[in-house]
Amino acid sequence: MESVIKSKASGRDRASPGGAANLVLILDFGSQYTHLITRRIRQLSVLSLCVSGTTPLDAIAKLKPRVVILSGGPHSVHAAGAPSFSDGFIEYAEENGVFVLGICYGMQLIVQKLGGVVAVGEKQEYGKMEIAVAEGECGLYGPEAVGGHQTVWMSHGDEAVKLPEGFTVVARSLQGSVAAIENRSRRFFGLQYHPEVTHSPQGMDTLRHFLLDVCGISADWKMQDVLEEEIKVIKGMVRPDEHVICALSGGVDSTVAATLVHKAIGDRLHCVFVDNGLLRYKERERVMSTFQSDLHLPVTCIDASEQFLSKLKGVKDPEMKRKIIGREFICIFDDFAQELEQKVGKRPTFLVQGTLYPDVIESCPPPGSGMTHSHTIKSHHNVGGLPKDMKLKLIEPLKFLFKDEVRKLGSILNVPELFLRRHPFPGPGLAVRVLGDVTEGNALEILRQVDEIFIQSIRDAGLYDSIWQAFAVFLPVQSVGVQGDQRTHSHVVVLRAITSEDGMTADWYYFDHKFLVDVVRKICNNVRGVNRVCQDITSKPPATVEWE
Ligand code: XMP
Repeated sequence: MESVIKSKASGRDRASPGGAANLVLILDFGSQYTHLITRRIRQLSVLSLCVSGTTPLDAIAKLKPRVVILSGGPHSVHAAGAPSFSDGFIEYAEENGVFVLGICYGMQLIVQKLGGVVAVGEKQEYGKMEIAVAEGECGLYGPEAVGGHQTVWMSHGDEAVKLPEGFTVVARSLQGSVAAIENRSRRFFGLQYHPEVTHSPQGMDTLRHFLLDVCGISADWKMQDVLEEEIKVIKGMVRPDEHVICALSGGVDSTVAATLVHKAIGDRLHCVFVDNGLLRYKERERVMSTFQSDLHLPVTCIDASEQFLSKLKGVKDPEMKRKIIGREFICIFDDFAQELEQKVGKRPTFLVQGTLYPDVIESCPPPGSGMTHSHTIKSHHNVGGLPKDMKLKLIEPLKFLFKDEVRKLGSILNVPELFLRRHPFPGPGLAVRVLGDVTEGNALEILRQVDEIFIQSIRDAGLYDSIWQAFAVFLPVQSVGVQGDQRTHSHVVVLRAITSEDGMTADWYYFDHKFLVDVVRKICNNVRGVNRVCQDITSKPPATVEWE
């Protein structure tokens, strides 16, 4: 848990990315919507952070939250081992004037811990429900909502059947069960439904009213302030004679992180971009031009394609390919650090990483999930992971931000919009898109050409920003075709385009008929060695986004 609130690697405490006086802290009890609450509150220009539900009290107190939200969760408060906040939390909140809002399981925890009764509901309520908000002034609902009806998203089996002393019911479902409660003088509030999901259309109004009007939070958390705060932090962290290195992947996160650090310490930042031979069509030229001409970043480009491809020769197993690529990255990185030491007379002390907030949250699983830290780290997404004995301290300036916030920050830093909107590209690059041995025949070259035609057609049709990720896959099989009166025995490629929120789940993108006909014609007419094109229309799950 500590890693959520403390940047251990840099050896200094980082409470939060600015705006801490108005912090809304979410204690996570495992709801699938916990990230969403955090994001929704940030959309109100209010800083919110998410930590494990069992975070020790002193760690919570250090963050000085004005509001604590107890999230939902899949548990019953009656189950053995049901997770709860730390002992003393209620007293801490009351002594420090902290407002507490429980959502779903969080509300049941409040009821149970303050002396009420939660029972297994007679009528379990799942999905869209209508609630009636009581008449009269209340904390949770603004004047426009009082006395009215709302549609909300419920998902609960247990129910509050007796409220703790001093609490009142301020909304009920039309079936009669408790939907919202409050004890304004003690500053405890509870919602049995999820205000953060779009299926609760007035949920954002409720959160806004509660946070701004009732808790007195100022909605003034801005990306410009985050930028200034981060620059200040980096300046304080890196001494004037120290040097910093950063591996740029060509993706949004590492580029924005490097640009920010460069703004703070100038040319004591040394970036490296590695051509591993697994990049897309003209990728090296394109990203180097952005780094140098648009961002004026000091970048060394290392062409290591032969080194990578010779190590990958004959390797078919995807995990093995990933491991080899990860190892080679580390060797190149080590050499780069050594060369730098000779050049500037001092070994670099810091490493910049573009870690994002979802990575930080995911590496701290909620209590009661039965998962440990290691369960949640996707080993195959850690290509380029650094060795444990590496002496470099980390600078992770984006570790409190979500992807869309990083894009906003990039925009303030003048990273070109076109670059900020790029689709994600996996660390092992085309190695996971040429199935099997990547060095066989001219598979990589064929894939580059097919991919370029597909992506350019998507851009030309104005579809690029509606698609979360699009790419081509090379299959290590040949099929029979007829081209120019001759039978051919050539390769099969697959086109994949998906829509997604975060890559965790995905749906296939529906192209119109003419678009597909044109793309397939262009590919077969222009790419030698391809006589068959398929489209992958599988969602995730059951498939994954990448084929390997
Ligand atoms: P999957 O295939 O797991 O992909 O559904 C979800 C997202 O992650 C990307 N991906 C990777 N990214 N190294 C990366 O840096 C990897 O090994 C890797 N595998 C998948 C994928 O492109 C998609 O955006």
